[in-house]
Amino acid sequence: MSRVLAGKAALVTGAAQGVGAGVARALAAEGAQVLVTDLNAAGAAEVAAQINAERGAGVAFGLGHDVTSEAAWDAAVAAARAQMGGLSVLVNNAGVLPFGSVEDLSLEEWRRGMSVNADSVFLGCKHALPLMRESQPGSIVNIASVSALIASHNLAAYNASKAAVWMLTKSVALHCAKHGWDIRCNSVHPTFVRTAMLNDIVGDDPAALAKLARQVPLGRIGEVEDVAAAVVYLASDASRMMTGAELKLDGGLTAM
Ligand SMILES: NC(=O)c1ccc[n+]([C@@H]2O[C@H](COP(=O)([O-])OP(=O)(O)OC[C@H]3O[C@@H](n4cnc5c(N)ncnc54)[C@H](O)[C@@H]3O)[C@@H](O)[C@H]2O)c1
Repeated sequence: MSRVLAGKAALVTGAAQGVGAGVARALAAEGAQVLVTDLNAAGAAEVAAQINAERGAGVAFGLGHDVTSEAAWDAAVAAARAQMGGLSVLVNNAGVLPFGSVEDLSLEEWRRGMSVNADSVFLGCKHALPLMRESQPGSIVNIASVSALIASHNLAAYNASKAAVWMLTKSVALHCAKHGWDIRCNSVHPTFVRTAMLNDIVGDDPAALAKLARQVPLGRIGEVEDVAAAVVYLASDASRMMTGAELKLDGGLTAM
């Protein structure tokens, strides 16, 4: 059976758990080699080992990688070249959720949100593009959030950082198109997804989860697999006419 990402080499950040781990597994299932990176190096190595146990040695590689560090991006791109021979898919997924209103947040918390969520995407695109140019066609997928498009009183840094990712995505897309490179760049905007990040807000309380689900027109919160399926599509050549676009996985939330 032909797999839609056969021959692709992908790098997924923040992939030791949650959405990133699910995306890495889905890309590998569709035939891509995957460099699984995370601040949590042991967690990234574990996810890579699980993928290799399932798909065969040499499919996945783990790497400790702080997405806020320019030097760490240099090392990650070098690792992609050394271990996979190139880079055709970059998934900027690593993120944090600093909770607080404009008055609650310290400048330090604001800067951390902007740094992990938005500086990371700038650095990732900037440092990956030279290698991606050698591996065309390419696709960059930035995991933003519905919070890029609609605001909450207590998510000032999260809203601002994800909105930055949304618009940066379009700038990168146009930069690549202007140069005639077959490298696309799109953003994905999920609503609540059942991961540790959501757990930090609602815990395991079924009533709190049900309350969140009621805010979504489809009546449910998202699963990691929902995001992974969208990333597979954007990473694949099936989406070759899509660039600078936002793909909303919000169960209808922003249609209201
Ligand atoms: N869970 C949700 O409800 C939801 C909704 C919309 C968008 N998102 C976005 O999806 C992405 C993944 O979120 P998740 O729910 O899987 O969260 P998560 O907290 O489960 O995973 C985030 C991962 O990012 C890593 N990370 C944090 N800082 C890092 C850094 N400086 N360098 C490298 N890695 C770092 C963490 O170690 C962790 O493995 C994030 O960008 C998040 O904003 C999540």
